[in-house]
Amino acid sequence: MSTRNRNRLVVAGFAALALFAGGAAFAYSRYKAFMAPVPVTQPLPFNHKHHMDEKLGLTCDACHKGVNEGPHAGIPSVNTCIKLCHTDPQGTNPEEAKIREYAAKGEAIPWQQANRLPGHVYFSHVGHVKFGKMECKECHGDMKERTEPVLLSTTHRLDMDTCMECHKEKGVSNDCLQCHK
Ligand code: HEC
Ligand code: HEC
Ligand code: HEC
Ligand code: HEC
Repeated sequence: MSTRNRNRLVVAGFAALALFAGGAAFAYSRYKAFMAPVPVTQPLPFNHKHHMDEKLGLTCDACHKGVNEGPHAGIPSVNTCIKLCHTDPQGTNPEEAKIREYAAKGEAIPWQQANRLPGHVYFSHVGHVKFGKMECKECHGDMKERTEPVLLSTTHRLDMDTCMECHKEKGVSNDCLQCHK
């Protein structure tokens, strides 16, 4: 059975359990207890604060183009870094030269995606950012002030309860199958 089908089965199973008083809520709280966030490692010391300096005039979506277009925000490719600025050396950090080394080798910078929902959860940036008119910091905290790369999901607080709380507040559907596809 594919992972996707298995995940669907898990969710359907829990949905069935929900028919019994608090069954799903209990199973869910047990499951969360095992789900402590695991930190990733990043290849370069990326600093959001430097890049959000007003003189550069960059907006979040200059690098995370997908936020206005589809489900994934995306992490900029090495070619985007080169095109935007890094053809020539920038700043004082010696690690910066590695951007051109990756580009010369034709390799991607091996960023690790820290914010990642399980595969059976459907989430879309365009839905929240463009149609829902929400700011990035409502979910990711103030990235403008961040000086270190992201190692831990800033959305670990964004668990099912948090998604549902906001949906309830804003009158958006909390049907299981809206988020679990
Ligand atoms: C409603 C909450 C919410 C808002 C608002 C939001 N995000 Fe996210 N973001 C998430 C979640 C949840 C994930 C994990 C998505 C996944 O695993 O598919 C994520 C993942 C990401 C990632 C990882 C890479 C990727 O392709 O998804 C980046 C980068 C990102 N968000 C940037 C942004 C930016 C920039 C904005 C504002 C323009 C923004 N986000 C607004 C919740 C949000
Ligand atoms: C702070 C508020 C908030 C949070 C947190 C939030 N949402 Fe939403 N969500 C909204 C709003 C508002 C809409 C309706 C957007 C529109 O006008 O289409 C929405 C719509 C949706 C939709 C249907 C539209 C679409 O994008 O396809 C899905 C699915 C969804 N949210 C999933 C999630 C998931 C999964 C999470 C948690 C990881 C989450 N949301 C967290 C406010 C929120
Ligand atoms: C100059 C390009 C650039 C700009 C501008 C930029 N980012 Fe990023 N962003 C990156 C890169 C590169 C990474 C991967 C390294 C890291 O984690 O810091 C990243 C990572 C992230 C992540 C974590 C992705 C994940 O899950 O691993 C979030 C969230 C994010 N950015 C949000 C924002 C927000 C919000 C803004 C605007 C305030 C913004 N970014 C502006 C380049 C940029
Ligand atoms: C607004 C979005 C949203 C809705 C609505 C929603 N969920 Fe979730 N669900 C999530 C997110 C995000 C996660 C993953 C993060 C977490 O574990 O909290 C999750 C995780 C789960 C898990 C853990 C599964 C696993 O093994 O990874 C189960 C079970 C589950 N949901 C069942 C349900 C049921 C049953 C309903 C309907 C009563 C429901 N969900 C409605 C967003 C949602």
